[in-house]
Amino acid sequence: MTSTKKKIDTLRKNILKYEYFYHTLDQSIVSDAEYDYLLHQLYDLEKKNQELITADSPTQKVGSNLLRRFKKIKHFSPMLSLENTFDINGYLNFEARIKKSLNINTSISFCCELKLDGIAISLIYEEGIFVRAATRGDGFKGENITANARMIKSIPLKLNGINIPKRLEVRGEVFMLKSDFITLNKRYKINQNKHFSNPRNAAAGSLRHINPKITAERKLMFSCHGCYFLEDIKEDLSTHYERLMKCVSWGLPVNKEIIICSNHIEVEKFYKKFEQTRNFLDFDIDGIVIKVNSIEFQKKIGCNTKSPRWAIAFKFCSAEKITLLKNVKFQVGRTGIITPVAYFDPVYISGVIIQKASLYNKYEMERLNLHVNDSIIICRSGDVIPKVLSVIKTTRCDNAKKIVFPEFCPVCDTKLLENTEEKIIRCHSGLTCDAQKKKSLYHFFSKKSLYVIGLGPRIINELIKKKLVKNPIDFFYLKDVDLIKLKNVGKKKSIKIINSINACKKTTLKSFIYALGIPGVGETISEKIANDFITLDKLINANILQLNSVDGIGKVISNNIFNYFSTIANRNMINTLIAKVGVYLNHQEVQELNIKKTCFLNKKIVLTGTFNAFSRIELKKILINLGAKVFDNISKKIDFLICGQNFGSKFFKANHLKIKTINEKELKFLIEM
Ligand code: IVH
Repeated sequence: MTSTKKKIDTLRKNILKYEYFYHTLDQSIVSDAEYDYLLHQLYDLEKKNQELITADSPTQKVGSNLLRRFKKIKHFSPMLSLENTFDINGYLNFEARIKKSLNINTSISFCCELKLDGIAISLIYEEGIFVRAATRGDGFKGENITANARMIKSIPLKLNGINIPKRLEVRGEVFMLKSDFITLNKRYKINQNKHFSNPRNAAAGSLRHINPKITAERKLMFSCHGCYFLEDIKEDLSTHYERLMKCVSWGLPVNKEIIICSNHIEVEKFYKKFEQTRNFLDFDIDGIVIKVNSIEFQKKIGCNTKSPRWAIAFKFCSAEKITLLKNVKFQVGRTGIITPVAYFDPVYISGVIIQKASLYNKYEMERLNLHVNDSIIICRSGDVIPKVLSVIKTTRCDNAKKIVFPEFCPVCDTKLLENTEEKIIRCHSGLTCDAQKKKSLYHFFSKKSLYVIGLGPRIINELIKKKLVKNPIDFFYLKDVDLIKLKNVGKKKSIKIINSINACKKTTLKSFIYALGIPGVGETISEKIANDFITLDKLINANILQLNSVDGIGKVISNNIFNYFSTIANRNMINTLIAKVGVYLNHQEVQELNIKKTCFLNKKIVLTGTFNAFSRIELKKILINLGAKVFDNISKKIDFLICGQNFGSKFFKANHLKIKTINEKELKFLIEM
């Protein structure tokens, strides 16, 4: 074979593979840029060597590949995901958290729905006419699939009924009936000798097919699970349920299995009913979704970066298999939490071989009452995460050995301490415990922290073993000759890492707080703390009350933060990093330059809508730099609402509470004052 032919064959093989992943499995395994680059290379080679063009080449397809990708569109508000639970305890924790954040002791209403296993999309209606559809994409930007969505019969192109809002966004699930999936696969297999692995993949491939006619043939369905009024609505629709029913009255499809529950017994009954009957439904569901019904409460409770805090998915387990428990090992996490992990004879469930499962905590381990050599029942929660469901006690042998939770850290042998409130057992040795050291150092330099490129767990482990590092400070004194001593690290790579270590010194307060790895302080909390305290000094010297008053920070986390900064070793490490190493937090510069005495100083502000001159994030930063505190929700304590175009219901609520609103023009004037 000539080298050109070889090149062409390899290109075709790869392009076809990527297309298969993209269209059939609904996975992007290469970037758009790389895909386009390979395709162009193939075009060029075929142009120069026309005798090598074959009918099955990816370049020869009708309606071809350059159209393969859809245009991207920005969502009006992020399309979030859902937090999951796989057992009733997870649900109970969710309910307790909701009541705590609302400061309510009595029962509240939850709307329970089925969790359809499909593809999330957003539809926009203007004056009742369907104008746009987009996939979820990365949550912020999705693909414009308007032409394809028009082909789905259950998506009305025109809404009927009364009080239709000027602009309406409907979010829901596109899915394929199991019966239609079976028919499609039969046909597909005969014609093309290919098949889809499940209805979800078939729906995803059909929805994003380059040819909308194919979408039409594939008989997709749509079901709405949320709606947002992008403009005023004449009616008072104060609950999620009322809003969904209103959608039904306008002709939008909503799954009929939807109920209001006011306690966990009702929720569990709904869950169990569908856990037992789901196989008889003609569509796949992978759990139920429980949402706080009151829209006002939803707003008060707010959202995390990835999911709303007012909703949770209570997922089903997959098929169950029996296997033999070999052992339970106790893992030490980054913050010292000890997690028992069960190891068992490999079992094959839903297409994957699994041989270990987390037992979460001591309580779950005790509930299961595990003994080595027990026959255990395994499933995959939500069809993904392996879980030990129970033990078959009748087959337990006489010499079975009960598994006991250790009293001492399995890595550093320190006495473990239990926090009964959080239901966790911890090794408190911090960086002197090898397991925590490895994980903490990796966390300190990971992407959302100080981010050093190329510093993965393997290199960190080797550096620790060679006694070159024991805390974050040591990394800043590494030389390229130290790194060259490591396995698979050449001169080029070591210089790259050293340069990246130097560059990471310039960081932000948010990333620095996150890097410290304080228990419970994730990305969202780090951002909130950074926005509230503005300087590291203020944060280090904050008392528990001040910490507790930050939006979204409860007693446990404020205690963790307070304890962290009260520990001398931690303070010394931070001092050295700032004063000697030269870690530089951007806020210092910003603060000195920008805090002018504008009307925003110490004011509590909420933003709504979109702005011409800035993105939301930019505007938030500007306001924080001017001394304001930016909140997610309107309440009595808010001073101003800054209102862009396409503002949401916050505007009406602010008016109701007589909160001053500022438009973009006024805002610009005030900022530049
Ligand atoms: S509510 C803010 N309700 O599950 C979150 N989602 O794992 C809004 N899903 O991407 C989602 N059935 O596409 C909601 N009844 C239902 C749902 C549902 C399926 C999907 C949804 C989302 C995913 C999150």
